[in-house]
Amino acid sequence: MSLSIIILAAGKGTRMKSSKPKVMHTLGGKALLQHVVDTAKLLNPTELAVVCGNGADEVVPYLEAQGVNTAMQHEQKGTGHAVEQAKAFFQKSDQVLVLYGDVPMIEVETLEALIHEGDKNSLKVLTALLDNPTGYGRIVRDFDDKMLRITEEKDADEETKLINEVNTGIMCIPAKWLDEALSKLDNNNAQGEYYLTDLIAQAVEQGIEIDSVICEDEMEVAGVNNRVQLAELESYYQQKRATDLMMSGVTFRDPARVDIRGELNAGQDITIDINVIFEGSNTIADNVSIGANCIIINSVIHEGSEILPNSMIENAEVGSGCAVGPYARLRPGSVLAAKAKIGNFVEVKNANIGLGSKVNHLSYIGDTDMGADVNIGAGTITCNYDGANKHRTIIGDRVFVGSDTQLVAPVTVEDGATIGAGSTIRKTAPGEALTLTVSKQKTVEGWKRPVKKK
Ligand code: UD1
Ligand code: CA
Repeated sequence: MSLSIIILAAGKGTRMKSSKPKVMHTLGGKALLQHVVDTAKLLNPTELAVVCGNGADEVVPYLEAQGVNTAMQHEQKGTGHAVEQAKAFFQKSDQVLVLYGDVPMIEVETLEALIHEGDKNSLKVLTALLDNPTGYGRIVRDFDDKMLRITEEKDADEETKLINEVNTGIMCIPAKWLDEALSKLDNNNAQGEYYLTDLIAQAVEQGIEIDSVICEDEMEVAGVNNRVQLAELESYYQQKRATDLMMSGVTFRDPARVDIRGELNAGQDITIDINVIFEGSNTIADNVSIGANCIIINSVIHEGSEILPNSMIENAEVGSGCAVGPYARLRPGSVLAAKAKIGNFVEVKNANIGLGSKVNHLSYIGDTDMGADVNIGAGTITCNYDGANKHRTIIGDRVFVGSDTQLVAPVTVEDGATIGAGSTIRKTAPGEALTLTVSKQKTVEGWKRPVKKK
């Protein structure tokens, strides 16, 4: 059976109080609309299209960049009218699934259950039972529990408002029937809109079977209308991600205090302390531990490494058995070989740190290729920028750099070299030798400390 999916995303989102289109606000670091598109794709639809209107100048290019079709609804005349704008995308299918760009948590399993419910020619509605159904369209059924119609809140009488089974908005509709049914919709209702929900009464009239599935988890069908609801969904989403990770072998010191904004591929026996933020696509191997308040962006951390508190790692790769931090910053292009150690207040950028090499304190290592078993003393700086261009520093194996050294790039320190503390190295430091720049120590006799003026 072939399926078309139409995602409605033309609405204004007035209550977000934002210049950004509502569906572009993010949940778990990903646009609301992207969540829905990604879930839709899991159903392998023959066609997929998003109905755009408000904010289309931003939303349409965003979708086109990923090859997703769009249909324009220039004026928002209701959900039925919105689906009609996308009719070019359901001519060849058997069924049309309607989703909402601002209902991001819907799960593929729920949609599959809906699509496969009952007869293949029936109209299927995803409903929910809510303690507080205010604002939603109510599912009106007869004494045999057969669905008769959906009545919008604004059109409902007091008795109808008491019904707590609501329309989630998500429907699966026989495509051949939909075209004509949409053309028969009118806007004689409280909002003067062409309601998609009026299809139910039409189907009843024409003897088309109606099936429904109740969605057990309300959060799955919760829409985002304002920033309070967005924040509620965010914490629900984070809780869910943390639960999945715990089930697969990750320990969180407190699963309520982690933020995963993007993909996190995690191994087992990983321990994550509080307030850690993951952004983009991260891979964390077995037995890694991450201390409190770390931010990890688009990075790979190999087995058994320890990231100490308050460290930031971005577009970097940490080899196995490394130690990073506390208070370390690995900037883009930092690659640590196994057993390397980057200590506190050390910044690394676009640099390779060799096997077992150590940069323990207060250093800047940028644009550098460092060999194995190197020890970089506290306060060492690679002077990689001459004001116009960046240059590389090459450090061989087994090098020992004394504290407070400046390595003025381009410069090479050969294998086994030792650099005396406080040196400024501008030329090649030969291998297996001591190189240092000397500034003589002197003592000024009779010198007096200045005293404060009265
Ligand atoms: C709709 C349903 C209601 C259901 C509720 C669930 C109708 C008539 N009502 O009501 O039964 O309980 O969703 O949340 O369908 N949209 C467009 N173009 C339009 C109008 C809407 O693209 O012309 C999009 C919106 O961007 C939004 C979605 O459709 O994503 C729902 O629209 P909204 O106005 O929020 O419908 P509700 O009144 O909440
Ligand atoms: Ca709504």
